[in-house]
Amino acid sequence: MKYKVPNHVAIIMDGNGRWAQKRNLKRTKGHQKGAEALKKISEYVYDKKVKVLSVFAFSTENWKRDKEEVDYLMDLFIKSFKDNFDAVKKKGVKVIFSGVKEKLSNKVIKAMEDMTEETKDNKNGIFNICLNYGGQDEILNATKKISKDVSNGVINTDDINPELFNKYLFNDLPPIDLLIRTSGEYRISNFMLWQMAYAEFYFPKVHFPDFNEEEFDKALLYIFICQY
Ligand code: FPP
Repeated sequence: MKYKVPNHVAIIMDGNGRWAQKRNLKRTKGHQKGAEALKKISEYVYDKKVKVLSVFAFSTENWKRDKEEVDYLMDLFIKSFKDNFDAVKKKGVKVIFSGVKEKLSNKVIKAMEDMTEETKDNKNGIFNICLNYGGQDEILNATKKISKDVSNGVINTDDINPELFNKYLFNDLPPIDLLIRTSGEYRISNFMLWQMAYAEFYFPKVHFPDFNEEEFDKALLYIFICQY
């Protein structure tokens, strides 16, 4: 079967809490299983020739959750960045982050910086982790930077076009071809609004901890069907 593999896949990793609830487990157990699922998926997508994978790890809204859950997630990020992505790094994938550092602890920032530093020269793919991220924030932030550059004479208003605007975002990434949101919710939830202008959307029912290689293949099959 021949089809065009999506260049940039983005995943809203939803349903960790419901996965745990169904099994009478704490929500944090769901996040732990979600981290395991992400480890496997992040290894698999690049084998399928996807070039960019973006994931929604933590939104600017997520600070409203119970302190216990937020603390657990932050520790899980640190641990995962240290232990879970060796295979991705070995494949020559560059790890980057989108979002703001504000409110993040020094330990989390250090773990993020270690990952980016270690993989900065990698050329075989990009793993974009959206952490403390909001799509509207990203657009506003870019707009402020552009307007400063206009005021300082670095660029002219007439030069502003989508390509230029893209360069002012947290990262200058290609457009999203396929957006997957697990757990059966049909919402975008302020994720990569600019980048998903032309994306195909796929909403599998499975909760993220159960999103595996087989489920990813189904998403690719869906894209294949959409192309005809
Ligand atoms: C949404 O599910 C999930 C999150 C807010 C956290 C996502 C985090 C992971 C998958 C852990 C690993 C991540 C990295 C980057 C190492 P939810 O808790 O809102 O689920 P619910 O809607 O069922 O309550």
